[in-house]
Amino acid sequence: MPTIDQYLDANVQRFEEELIQFLQIPSVSADTACSADIRRAAAWVADQFDRLGFTTETIETSGHPLVLAESPTVAGAPTVLVYGHYDVQPVEPLEAWITPPFEPTRRDGNLYARGATDDKGQLLTHIKSAEAWLASEGRLPVNLKYIIEGEEEVGSEGLEKFLVENARRMACDCVVISDGAQFAPGQPAINYGLRGIAYYELLLRGPNRDLHSGSFGGAITNPANALARMLAALVDDTGRIRVPGFYDDVLPLSAAEREQLAALPFDEAEFLETNGVTGATGEPGYTVLERRWVRPTYDVCGLWSGYQGEGAKTVLPATAGAKFSFRLVPNQDPRKVTKGLRQMLTEACPPGIEMELVEHHGAPGVLVPPESPYVQAAARAIEDAFGCPPVFTREGGSIPIVSTFRETLGADTLLIGWGQDDDNTHSPNEKFSLADFHRGIRASARLWAELAKVKK
Ligand code: BES
Ligand code: MN
Ligand code: MN
Repeated sequence: MPTIDQYLDANVQRFEEELIQFLQIPSVSADTACSADIRRAAAWVADQFDRLGFTTETIETSGHPLVLAESPTVAGAPTVLVYGHYDVQPVEPLEAWITPPFEPTRRDGNLYARGATDDKGQLLTHIKSAEAWLASEGRLPVNLKYIIEGEEEVGSEGLEKFLVENARRMACDCVVISDGAQFAPGQPAINYGLRGIAYYELLLRGPNRDLHSGSFGGAITNPANALARMLAALVDDTGRIRVPGFYDDVLPLSAAEREQLAALPFDEAEFLETNGVTGATGEPGYTVLERRWVRPTYDVCGLWSGYQGEGAKTVLPATAGAKFSFRLVPNQDPRKVTKGLRQMLTEACPPGIEMELVEHHGAPGVLVPPESPYVQAAARAIEDAFGCPPVFTREGGSIPIVSTFRETLGADTLLIGWGQDDDNTHSPNEKFSLADFHRGIRASARLWAELAKVKK
């Protein structure tokens, strides 16, 4: 029998080929035209577990199916719940991709495809590590349960409901998620915090049709002007969010954490340069990392109204709309934010405009206690596989289900992302480093051994 490391080395090629197959499936959860591909992706994941001899089940939800799997019972060992998502973000703008998003391509040691890092490549590491254990040891040192969902990028509604109704079945000692990034190349990280989110769509309706802006402008309220004003009213000039009560529950940053974040080797000039900007704005009194990880924010994500074609058209548009979100931090409550927001927008909406505020997904931010023995076990596994101990960071992005794991299962989550900040998550030319893919598998295999040592 090979050792685990020998097995991993011998299967590098095949693991990459399997990841390529997975990435060829355009499982865009937001796009109804992809529903057959979504099912193909779920079936592909289920097949991976079937091959390991795990008990596998595909569960229908109000949206896209969940894939559940369970390894054979190891009496007395901890139970680890692995979460991942097989859905991906839309690919637009397509013309910005160097190679097509669903034709995975190797370049400079990376694999380029939508979903490469978010989250197909990362979730596969935790399946391949189990495969390696079974092939070399014939058994796993822990009990593994997997939940791989298809709605993460659209708010995890189906999984949320499933967890509330099936908390006992999903009982575990800790949750493991690789769906994020390391701190820098060669510097792995454990995230002890994620921001939450509250996402909205604001629709404004004015006159019953587009009008001549000369004949009617100044006398009929323009929905595009109203939208600009209303969106701008949500923040002051320094970027402070003006929604009533917004900051009431924000957990302040402690001096100790501040010091710890300041000690991370972060180069602001390089950060601006890699993102193609010459300067930036942000909340006064906070560093870039604090602004990204610890402070709540407001961002318009989409904006539409009026004439977008060539040349000029003098028109007073009948409608205007925007999508925007707040990133939330512990202990803000998305429902409370919605209440304040609705009140504020209703007051700001001028006569002649009908307003509709659509609430999309909401999730609170999370913090994971770094002193947990499971976190310490993860740190040892990562150091072993990456040759360097992880730094402790937070993350500005959101994984909505993490707070639900805490609420329904009482379990903390190990957030151990194998990606890089420049992986182009949600952007054109998403990639995943193949070296990180294989190191991730190795770290995952070590993690099962380290978690097995934690006293229950
Ligand atoms: N994997 C990301 C979250 C993430 C991004 C973690 C970067 C760490 C680093 C996840 O797939 C994601 O994109 N989440 C959405 C959630 C939303 C759609 C509810 C997000 O953060 O926008
Ligand atoms: Mn993700
Ligand atoms: Mn994502």
